[in-house]
Amino acid sequence: MAFKYINFKKREGIAWVQFNRPEKLNALNPDVLRDLEKAVVICEEDDDIKVVVLHGNEKAFVAGADIENMAKGDIKFAYELTDLTMRVQERIADLPKPTIAAISGYALGGGCEMALCCDFRIAAENALLGQPEITLGIIPGGGGTQRLTRLVGLGPATELILKGEMIKADRAERIGLVSKVVPLDHLEAEAKALASKLMERPAMALRAAKTAIRKGINTSLKEGLHIEQDLFCMLFGTEDQKEGMAAFLEKRRPIFKGK
Ligand code: COA
Repeated sequence: MAFKYINFKKREGIAWVQFNRPEKLNALNPDVLRDLEKAVVICEEDDDIKVVVLHGNEKAFVAGADIENMAKGDIKFAYELTDLTMRVQERIADLPKPTIAAISGYALGGGCEMALCCDFRIAAENALLGQPEITLGIIPGGGGTQRLTRLVGLGPATELILKGEMIKADRAERIGLVSKVVPLDHLEAEAKALASKLMERPAMALRAAKTAIRKGINTSLKEGLHIEQDLFCMLFGTEDQKEGMAAFLEKRRPIFKGK
């Protein structure tokens, strides 16, 4: 599959999906989004891919939606752009395998929002994150007001969105926007180590956990508890549940098959 704005590599169960529009700091326009969607579809369909890592380059994860593309847009344009963005983002958020955003450099606006669709966000020390849309006369339109608030809470999200300032990686870690900060030259190894750990886990349980968390947060507690119950009970029909519990009782490491 040929991409213009994405580098796609598959290595040892990990799909490395790299934004590749360096001359514009990986700013997202419809062509980049469509390339990203194609990459995500491969990740959905290829059973050899167990974990997906989204990343950019040293200077930028993604510096936001393409402002040049948006500058002359009208209301109809904005609906079309956000429809496309939402479609791609939901595909990422709903991927039935774990996703990691490995962030170096700028992760602004649509870039920060793309990282918010992943299950994990790890950052290099040089990362700068934020939702600067307000400084352009708009608000986040790729889920920032919703996913960021659900992740870090009302106070930090309101501050980031209303002030529109960038924050450094260490502050992002303190507010829970990223889970770990590492030196830039360790970022790839850190993402790989996390992916390897996740690959040791039973794939169906990972998928069920992800579904329970993501569906549950968008519903009432009561409904969420029922979603959890159904998925918990479903796992008792899997080979990996038998193996996981047998291995515990036999004091050995489990060998999961993803069945
Ligand atoms: N949309 C379109 N182009 C962008 C962009 C964006 N979001 N972010 C960066 N670029 C382009 C710049 O226009 C420049 O292109 P040019 O060389 O053709 O002029 C190129 O990427 C390099 O960016 P530059 O601004 O020269 O780099 P910098 O290191 O001086 O500054 C930023 C980096 C991220 C601080 C600055 O580019 C910026 O503020 N970008 C916009 C961030 C933003 O508001 N994102 C949210 C959009 S909703």
